[in-house]
Amino acid sequence: MKNTFYVTTPIYYPSGKFHIGTAYTTVLADTIKRYKKLRGYDTYMLTGTDEHGQKIQTVAEKAGKTPQQYVDEMAQQAKELWAKMHISYDDFIRTTEDRHKKIAQKIFEYFLEKGDIYKGEYEGLYCMPCESYFTETQLVDGKCPDCGREVKLMKEEAYFFNMKKYADRLLKYYDEHPEFIQPEYRKTEMLNNFIKPGLEDLCVSRTSFDWGIKVPSDPKHVIYVWLDALTNYLTALGYLSEDDTLFKKYWPADLQIVGKDIARFHLIYWPIFLMALDLPLPKTILVHNWIMMKDGKMSKSKGNVVYPEKLIDRYGLDATRYFLLRELPISQDGLYTPESFVERYNSDLCNDLGNLVNRTVSMVNKYFEGKVPEYNGTPNEVDKEFEEFTNNQIEKVEQLMDKYELSNAIPEIWSLISRTNKYIDETRPWELAKNEETEKLQSSMYHLIENIRKIGILVMPIMEETSQNLLKQIGIPEKMQTWDSLKNYNKLSGIKVIEKGEPLFMRKNMEEELEYLRN
Ligand code: ME8
Ligand code: MG
Repeated sequence: MKNTFYVTTPIYYPSGKFHIGTAYTTVLADTIKRYKKLRGYDTYMLTGTDEHGQKIQTVAEKAGKTPQQYVDEMAQQAKELWAKMHISYDDFIRTTEDRHKKIAQKIFEYFLEKGDIYKGEYEGLYCMPCESYFTETQLVDGKCPDCGREVKLMKEEAYFFNMKKYADRLLKYYDEHPEFIQPEYRKTEMLNNFIKPGLEDLCVSRTSFDWGIKVPSDPKHVIYVWLDALTNYLTALGYLSEDDTLFKKYWPADLQIVGKDIARFHLIYWPIFLMALDLPLPKTILVHNWIMMKDGKMSKSKGNVVYPEKLIDRYGLDATRYFLLRELPISQDGLYTPESFVERYNSDLCNDLGNLVNRTVSMVNKYFEGKVPEYNGTPNEVDKEFEEFTNNQIEKVEQLMDKYELSNAIPEIWSLISRTNKYIDETRPWELAKNEETEKLQSSMYHLIENIRKIGILVMPIMEETSQNLLKQIGIPEKMQTWDSLKNYNKLSGIKVIEKGEPLFMRKNMEEELEYLRN
């Protein structure tokens, strides 16, 4: 039986156009999914939109639309962006779909029956954009600790979820499952900020607006948007529905990726809801940081938002995905500047990768009429060290990818690229040709093609088009494009490379690009 791998992104609030920060989570999930697929897993990736709540209702009204009209259009836009970014999701769930609403209601009523949800009255400080209540002590300078905006005192009859009941079980679970929260410091944060001070029961219904899923037994209440939204990871798989094949196959999730602003919901409330449902918890919840601009967080009010389309239309999808994955370390914030984007494009993609392929293809044409030469399989001194280095790098990349550390895995791929470029200078094929040292020249060309093949496979989950283009230029058949084939040598002789390949990336002029990117 194949191993299954279920990965989720958060479902997005369609309250505006998605920027590169929002796109990051999804690109990361997609890349990991593609990697797992290459490793032979039966993968399933879920994304979607989180369409209820006061914020959506307000934005829709402002746009002069009904909430339903508004979210229909926005979900369509989201799907178009993901198509443009080649996001290979298997399902896109919308929380306004019946398949979701029905089951979210069942879950709410089940909690009510069990006594995990009870009726009470809520008075608290509410942040509208975040749809969250806070206690006085949680506020930062009297403002919302998540977004820094004003909070308002509100009072309403409401249902509560008994979080206290599960606090000890949650702590125990954290302790016994060190792989559950990544990176680990997020666990300490949850403990210190929320669990040790005493977990408050969570208000899980609202009466102040009606754009939400109704509580069936008390329909003047709508289900709190976070309880509604979190259940998407289950409802999308058909949990509690007539057909729960997918649920049986893929639950528990292997990886759930979220940004730091929604860590609390996924590391505390979500596992508790699952415990209350008697369901196994996801294996890992990965919390990433933010992409920052020089002047702080990307936000519309600051006018510093960068949309993925702006980058994709001029530099291509692969350069955009490459930049996001390379520049945003999971455990720290990453910085976007137009300079760093162009610099990465020119130096990593154009110089390092592009030139390597270009130089090699033209040498194989020049010295061997485009045919990968024979190699006797016995490496000389230089080749031996080169082969060892290569195998080592592949090993490192694998280990880092297995830990989901893309921003560390990518530099290891690039040191392999640099080392391969250096190998050209070391073996000096032009001199070997002049001196008719044929065997050495054969070995040099063979090793270059072999390494480019390997690099092509290593970058496949990140940049599919570049990978395909590159492998095509060096004539690699599909059966030699598998991850398993990364460990093989010796099968390439006789393969025909392209006569003259298009450059993978075209060098850009920094000034011109800054002009484009700053406007
Ligand atoms: O939070 N850098 O949706 P959302 C990196 N509906 N990631 C960023 C970012 C940035 N600058 N800005 C936003 C929600 N994100 C809820 C989720 S799940 C049951 C419900 C990330 O559209 C953010 O951290 O506000 C989150 O992971 C994702 O974009 C969606 O944010
Ligand atoms: Mg948000």
